[in-house]
Amino acid sequence: MGRVKTQFVCRHCGYRVSKWLGRCPGCQEWESLEEETLPSASASRRGAPVMAGRPRPLSEVAVEDLGRLSTGLEELDRVLGGGLAPGAVTLLSGEPGVGKSTLLLQAAAGLAGRGKRLLYITGEESAAQVRLRAERLSLDLSRLWVLAETRVEAIAEALDNSQWDVAAVDSIQTLTSEGLAGAAGSPAQVRESAARLSALTKGRGLPLWLVGHITKDGSIAGPKLLEHLVDTVLYFEGDRERSLRLLRSFKNRYGSVNEIGVFEMTGSGLGQVVNPSALFLSERPAGASGSVVAPIMEGQRPLLMEIQALVSASPLAMPRRQALGVDSARVGLLAAVLEKKVRLKLFDRDIFVNVTGGARITEPAADLAIVAAMAGSWADTPAPDSTVFIGEVGLAGEVRTVAHLEARLREARKMGFTRAVVPPAEAKKVAAEGLKLHSVKSVSQLLREHLGFK
Ligand code: TYD
Ligand code: MG
Repeated sequence: MGRVKTQFVCRHCGYRVSKWLGRCPGCQEWESLEEETLPSASASRRGAPVMAGRPRPLSEVAVEDLGRLSTGLEELDRVLGGGLAPGAVTLLSGEPGVGKSTLLLQAAAGLAGRGKRLLYITGEESAAQVRLRAERLSLDLSRLWVLAETRVEAIAEALDNSQWDVAAVDSIQTLTSEGLAGAAGSPAQVRESAARLSALTKGRGLPLWLVGHITKDGSIAGPKLLEHLVDTVLYFEGDRERSLRLLRSFKNRYGSVNEIGVFEMTGSGLGQVVNPSALFLSERPAGASGSVVAPIMEGQRPLLMEIQALVSASPLAMPRRQALGVDSARVGLLAAVLEKKVRLKLFDRDIFVNVTGGARITEPAADLAIVAAMAGSWADTPAPDSTVFIGEVGLAGEVRTVAHLEARLREARKMGFTRAVVPPAEAKKVAAEGLKLHSVKSVSQLLREHLGFK
């Protein structure tokens, strides 16, 4: 027996140091380091799969057909990279109440519909509560399997037969492993429980879901500390006031990290939003000045978003520049371009810019639309009907090329738009059936040709 070794682990980000510090060097959180005893080497190796390895050329490595399982939820499958891969460990992170348990239960039902059995292990709620939720979701109760258990060894025993196709733990922060000090939710318990379960399920090729709560108060260890340990990290986001939920992959060993899935929380569970553009545009006012549509890339997926601007005379010595859903520094910069390059008087105006639907845009490809919205509102001229605006705007007022133009145009066409204002070089290059392309070189050309400026 060697000496008992200890280390200090940050509850938030998992950063490890050998001695206690008041502030975590990883995430700068105060008083977040907790002491833990390192498991002995033999204990931590137990259960880990042994790789039978000899060096060989890659060409001799067999790539087995991954045989992914569909969850029946297309939005979820796409974010996963085409369904659940065998043995993949997926961490589903999100704030309490966002809908993680609901998503898992609906996925369980989808799998059941395909003849696959998911064992839903609940440590958070009682089996009866899970049943109530499933009833609310009108799912077929006889095909859903639940186990209310928080001891990792008992869970391992339950998984120790071949009747399961998928295992799900809700949540990882409720589990405890034997022989480990610390309460459920402590960094050591969270990490060790996840490691033991994933070693077990990987050995059997069983996909494993781990739900992880993101909490602000730091009373339990956050899911961040598991991110290096799992194959796929999904974030489920959305605010409580609005029903929209976005599922993003942050890390994915089995697919792209650029996919997003869009859901809507309804009275009877999560509905898939197959056509998010329609949702973002659903209440768009017809013929109103200052409302402009731009196709924005969310990962690989184009989405049409409505950008609104309100430019009005300001009673203030320092007029307001406020932006929601776009970077306000960007809005300030584009306003300066309008002042300088087309002599639009904005210095005595309040400027408000908003992306409807609570969406966020970080792409410069929205510049042209923001400029069109501001200029349109200033002049009280509606942007031309059925037109989308695409392009980055430089400080000289020039309109610049953006990536993924074809995908953006395709989405615009799909949503019934007939015209697109695009950067100069692009109009010739892309095929855009059914869509009339108008290229503009500069902001002043945009204003003259499309917003009725003289
Ligand atoms: P839940 O899945 O329990 O969230 P999490 O597991 O991430 O904590 O979902 C919680 C919220 O969703 C709760 O506030 C109620 C709401 N909800 C609905 O609006 N409709 C439904 O059909 C269900 C099941 C939940
Ligand atoms: Mg839950």
